[in-house]
Amino acid sequence: MLSKLLSLILIFSSLGMDAVCRYENQLSLGGNLFLVNRDYRISADYVPNDLVMPQVKRTSDSVLLRPEAADALERLFQAAKEEAGYSLVAVSGFRSYQTQSLIFNRRLKSVGRQKTMLFVALPGASEHQLGLAMDVARQKNTSLNASFGSSPEGIWLAENCYRFGFILRYQEQWTEITGYAYEPWHIRYVGEEHALRIQELDIPLEEYISALRTTIDLFSTENE
Ligand code: DAL
Ligand code: ZN
Repeated sequence: MLSKLLSLILIFSSLGMDAVCRYENQLSLGGNLFLVNRDYRISADYVPNDLVMPQVKRTSDSVLLRPEAADALERLFQAAKEEAGYSLVAVSGFRSYQTQSLIFNRRLKSVGRQKTMLFVALPGASEHQLGLAMDVARQKNTSLNASFGSSPEGIWLAENCYRFGFILRYQEQWTEITGYAYEPWHIRYVGEEHALRIQELDIPLEEYISALRTTIDLFSTENE
């Protein structure tokens, strides 16, 4: 992991100060790189003011996304259909703090705290509140479980979502870092240039952002 982080810092440094400053802006709330996890939470009243309904197959109307992510999702689903003949379905997009709270408490009652914490974020700690995350299933079976990851559609999604700016956020080997179990259905929009690097280096978003922050610090120390 360390060598990947070092190569990423070198990549960021080689892009120069302007590009890195542009990326720094994307780390703020409203930016594509904004990090949400157990340590970095969003306030209860945060709701993006530009949510739209992506024009894709869906299991319910709870699939709103921010416009850039919605457009990318439409192109992703279209490519799945045209290139591989797969029908993907949107299951859950934007979730308010209150909705996340309902989902968390419902799961808590049915499976207990330990399992709930591995699969459902606490309210304020979910990327779904950003309007940049989507749970994706296949039309043949819309349940969200690990078997999606070994289905042809799940494999295609894992290999291709980066082309449209999405990353598979919760991979099996990253549980210690992300805090969550394997979720092959959960994709997070970060934009194409970041998704490509994250895919190539095969690292969690936490590590990508940490390397970016280190590079920003290096640039600012140089200018002191
Ligand atoms: N399932 C993911 C971790 C969430 O609840 O945001
Ligand atoms: Zn999700």
